[in-house]
Amino acid sequence: MNNPNGNSDAIARRYMDSLVIEQRLLGAEKPDTAVRFLGRDFATPLMGAALSHLQGGMAGYAEGARLAGAATCIGMGGNEELKACLATGAAVMKIVKPYADRAEIFSRLRCAEEGGALAVGMDCSHAIRSESPDFDTVLGSPMKLPAPAELREYIAATRLPFFFKDVLSVRDALTARELGAAGVILGHHHGLMPWAVPPVLLLPELRRAVGEDFLLIADGGIEDGFDAFKALALGADMVCVGRALMQPYAEEGAAGVAKKLREMTAQLASMMYRTGAADVRGIDPGVIHRL
Ligand SMILES: Cc1cc2nc3c(=O)[nH]c(=O)nc-3n(C[C@H](O)[C@H](O)[C@H](O)COP(=O)(O)O)c2cc1C
Repeated sequence: MNNPNGNSDAIARRYMDSLVIEQRLLGAEKPDTAVRFLGRDFATPLMGAALSHLQGGMAGYAEGARLAGAATCIGMGGNEELKACLATGAAVMKIVKPYADRAEIFSRLRCAEEGGALAVGMDCSHAIRSESPDFDTVLGSPMKLPAPAELREYIAATRLPFFFKDVLSVRDALTARELGAAGVILGHHHGLMPWAVPPVLLLPELRRAVGEDFLLIADGGIEDGFDAFKALALGADMVCVGRALMQPYAEEGAAGVAKKLREMTAQLASMMYRTGAADVRGIDPGVIHRL
């Protein structure tokens, strides 16, 4: 039996809970959570994570993000589903699986570009099985870890900004930047990798390594607006929310997703107010302390 202490979600939760926030009230102004991201304006730096196969369909999930003025990723799925998500008017970042059949990858990238997606990306971590050194098969589709030269080809195959998802080291972030990616989504894909370093622990070091212009999106274990605040303070440009949106979606559809994203954004704004941050980019990392 595996050691349960290696559960990466639990490790990340413990780290997040060890971070506390100082208050800077005097002179604080009512904050604005609006952000500009990839040339578009959003009401919030929170975005839907790359979920997939949701009961009720992915288009409703995307619509929920749109209603909240948020961007969203979507995960594994066919081109018809991607078109339905885009038809809602949502700003969609399509995360393509690392299919062994490269034609599947090029087809998804083309469909995203033709449909006016916000960006594309790839969750390379899903190429490898958790329990053996073999390539994974996801819902019957064989995966393969792309070689750097192949990744360069995927990036060159689209005019859309490209993000590597499930990045969890300075080394991979720097390689992604060198290959031409616009940014990375930091995370461990809800514990696909055991004993993973918490994404938020890596954020300050990553930000220093990649500079200000390379985009860092925090993903994993963001349960409320206060978690999002910590990730943004420590260097994230945007923050993905996945499982926390699933129950609202199951219960109330797109309206539930929008409601949850708005509630979390209100919590974020409240913490920004208390810490003297007038806007999202003005959140000072110095307000975060470690217990
Ligand atoms: C039901 C479900 C489906 C998911 N499908 C995908 C997927 O197709 N592609 C992907 O990159 N990540 C997928 N993920 C991972 C999420 O994008 C995210 O990385 C992970 O859930 C951690 O974020 P969270 O703690 O906010 O849920 C999925 C997660 C869940 C719960």
